[in-house]
Amino acid sequence: MFENVLYEVKGQVGYITINRPKALNALNSAVLQELDAVLDAVDLEAVRCLIVTGAGEKSFVAGADIGEMSTLTKEEGEAFGKKGNDVFRKLETFPIPVIAAVNGFALGGGCEIAMSCDIRICAENAVFGQPEVGLGITPGFGGTQRLARLVSPGMAKQLIYTAKNIKAAEAYRIGLVNAVYPLEELMPAAEKMAAGIAKQAPIAVRASKKAINDGLQVDMDEAIVIEEKLFGSCFETEDQKYGMAFFLDKNKEKVKEPFQNK
Ligand code: CAA
Repeated sequence: MFENVLYEVKGQVGYITINRPKALNALNSAVLQELDAVLDAVDLEAVRCLIVTGAGEKSFVAGADIGEMSTLTKEEGEAFGKKGNDVFRKLETFPIPVIAAVNGFALGGGCEIAMSCDIRICAENAVFGQPEVGLGITPGFGGTQRLARLVSPGMAKQLIYTAKNIKAAEAYRIGLVNAVYPLEELMPAAEKMAAGIAKQAPIAVRASKKAINDGLQVDMDEAIVIEEKLFGSCFETEDQKYGMAFFLDKNKEKVKEPFQNK
């Protein structure tokens, strides 16, 4: 359907591949637009988890397109930032979980798209960084905000001010990724995790994502109320009734049926 972003569904998992390998999957306006359109096209009845990765074996996403940015005015720069921010925010708040399978360079906008996903795992060849100040700009697709929240303000400042890239092991050490795999094991690991998510009660998974995301925006008194409401919203669903009845049924021969998303 698209040229710069591929979308494929296998079972209950949707695969989004940023596909501009000749530019190491750098994000220009066309890529951002297609990513937005792909997210709109995801069938939320059928798909329960997304995996985002990059085409090829060298790069996840090597950042925003420097050629496209090089001649922008202040106003155009701000608008380009908004374009990226809007689509990354859509990804971050997407109703179902999103796993970033980082298969190489995740620099600038590449690190930023990974940080907009719920979970990041990477290959041993992954390289992370926010090199923007070396180009005379700040990170512009959420990097100043999400890196500080995901790792720590001090570590985010060090990485952003020095523009120094880090390898997979360091990304793991600072908590930027959950796990590191040999490249050939990365997609199987992402698929296994996605399948593990897809088999849980979908309404409960979505409510958990919303509770975590929304709760992180407010103080604890408000946050626990957000949880209470979403916790409550799971009750009386078919999946809640079935999941609990299955647990309470003492018949050891029974086989758990798939959840119905109802
Ligand atoms: N924008 C545009 N083109 C890019 C690109 C980018 N971010 N990253 C790589 N490319 C292109 C290169 O220009 C090159 O194109 P040609 O073959 O036409 O010359 C092609 O991809 C291959 O790249 P290299 O030859 O440079 O490959 P390498 O293996 O020698 O180096 C690299 C790989 C270290 C990732 C290097 O390409 C690089 O440093 N890229 C830029 C990384 C960067 O600075 N990203 C941040 C961008 S700013 C940003 O993202 C702002 C924001 O927050 C919104």
